[in-house]
Amino acid sequence: MATNITWHPNLTHDERKGLRKQEGVTIWLTGLSASGKSTIACALEQLLLQENVNAYRLDGDNIRFGLNKDLGFSENDRNENIRRISEVSKLFADSCAVSITSFISPYRADRDKARELHRESGLKFIEVYVDVPLEVAEQRDPKGLYKKAREGIIKDFTGISAPYEEPSEPEIHLRTDKLTVEEAAEKIYEYLKQEKII
Ligand code: PPS
Repeated sequence: MATNITWHPNLTHDERKGLRKQEGVTIWLTGLSASGKSTIACALEQLLLQENVNAYRLDGDNIRFGLNKDLGFSENDRNENIRRISEVSKLFADSCAVSITSFISPYRADRDKARELHRESGLKFIEVYVDVPLEVAEQRDPKGLYKKAREGIIKDFTGISAPYEEPSEPEIHLRTDKLTVEEAAEKIYEYLKQEKII
């Protein structure tokens, strides 16, 4: 725990938004492994960049190669993973970017804390439930992880041997077994337009 530190006041988000002419926001994708989070996040990022909207993606696997390389998949490590990402995403959103996060983020309390962190700073937070039945995710199994989890080679695997707590009131609910990637990304894009965020 650091001591003898002093907070230096920064521009408020409203001041920054006025200067940048773009509001920052965090789009928080949550869902099982192989639900489509990263693919949808990529498609959305592409769509926004093409429209000249500053967007940046923070991805579960990728962040674990760097910032969070010290964390595994125990409940405590996942809590810490999501706490750090919440802070980083808040910074991106405060810089007036559309920050798109794709993490399983299995615990409701962690996602609620992320929302609260944004609310305290006057930043919008949009929770997107990337929903797919477990059987479909398991059939897709693009990385062969479900198979390994069933065989007991991977422990604490979300949906098999570790919990996933569904969002109770997400702003956007996508059933990815019924939508194409493009349709899913478009739905988030339309929501941002409708809410006048972009
Ligand atoms: S979490 O729960 O939010 O902290 O997880 P996240 O940072 O999103 O990382 C999920 C990716 O890690 C791989 N992986 C596992 N996922 C779940 N449980 C276990 N035990 C596990 N081990 C490795 C997996 O590739 C996840 O990526 P996605 O894109 O979700 O499939």
